[in-house]
Amino acid sequence: MRDLRISITDRCNFRCLYCLPETEEAADFYRRKSESSEAPQPIRHEWKPRSHFLTYEEITRVARIATGLGVTKLRLTGGEPLLRRAVPELVRQLSELEGINDLALTTNGFHFDKHAEALRAAGLRRVTFSLDSLDRDNFKKLTGRDGLGELLAAITRARELGFAPIKINAVIIRDLNDHEIEVLAQFARDEALTMRFIEFMPLDSGRAWQREHVVTGREIRERLQAAFGLEPAGMEHAAATATRWRFKNSKKGQGEIGLISPVSEPFCGQCNRLRLTADGKIRTCLFSLHEHDLKPLLRGNATDADIIQWLQAVVLKKEPRHHIGETDFEQPARTMSAIGG
Ligand code: GTP
Ligand code: 5AD
Ligand code: SF4
Repeated sequence: MRDLRISITDRCNFRCLYCLPETEEAADFYRRKSESSEAPQPIRHEWKPRSHFLTYEEITRVARIATGLGVTKLRLTGGEPLLRRAVPELVRQLSELEGINDLALTTNGFHFDKHAEALRAAGLRRVTFSLDSLDRDNFKKLTGRDGLGELLAAITRARELGFAPIKINAVIIRDLNDHEIEVLAQFARDEALTMRFIEFMPLDSGRAWQREHVVTGREIRERLQAAFGLEPAGMEHAAATATRWRFKNSKKGQGEIGLISPVSEPFCGQCNRLRLTADGKIRTCLFSLHEHDLKPLLRGNATDADIIQWLQAVVLKKEPRHHIGETDFEQPARTMSAIGG
């Protein structure tokens, strides 16, 4: 395990259809399409009081212990992480840890501008924004918020402040935003960004996921191949989620495409990711049905040695793979908004 992904809050100011749809009507966008009359019931989010969240000191302690066990990479996620107070303070504590060579943040970008400078000064080097549409109305339909302008401003700001690389996550869903694939790729090219197209996974609170909604990485690659011409942009490390492509005849730094295909081409075999939820649970897989509660140890009088032993035992229980699309698949009780991506 080299990669620890830390969710610092399960709150979010967006209501993305593929994650935490706001209304039944929004979730019904998918359900209407299915023939089945026994659509699964939506997952009701249980908003726990903030006292359930780990403190920054507790998070830093876990991260420090994890580095001793081989973790070198940290990612802060949410919900929307920038809804939590004083995130730069946490970034500073984490960036000072010995053994961490990569510290990143995933954000929807809406509040990025006002925190950007402080985050950079605290030691954050790179950021990933979620952006699924470049059309104002479609953006609103997908996220439930009229926030495209803020997001574009955030990307500009990140570039000005020297965050690099800047990556964009776009979850592509059939008939919702798949008509924007080429436009999003062109944006990556014009703005010299890394645009990552992600297959929709069954982690939505609407429990509306169906295989027909998934636009496979292969289909996206073929479309981009036809529109622009693509060539491999080199290998990621073995555990990477994305395959990397660049535009034909372009140089390094002139925009990149990443294809993340967990549904059609699972990459579980190489997985090196552990997740810590805001309320202190360790998840050994995005699709874990069982979480391991670390908070009692942190708030009891467990020593670092106790926690090391506990973490080692937990990691040994890691799931070999996900079962998306199989008859025995069971969607986890918590949605992506509480797991963090
Ligand atoms: P980089 O270090 O920037 O390459 O990060 P990453 O490859 O881990 O990607 P990122 O954290 O931006 O994750 C992008 C998306 O990939 C997530 O939002 C998820 O949708 C998906 N993803 C990330 N990790 C996993 C994983 O372990 N399993 C599956 N099935 N999907 C994942
Ligand atoms: N399927 C795939 N990716 C998702 N994300 C959120 N929900 C889903 C889903 N159902 C991704 C978004 C966001 C990141 C935190 O998680 O791309 O950028
Ligand atoms: Fe790892 Fe689970 Fe993601 Fe597969 S689905 S790559 S096992 S976290």
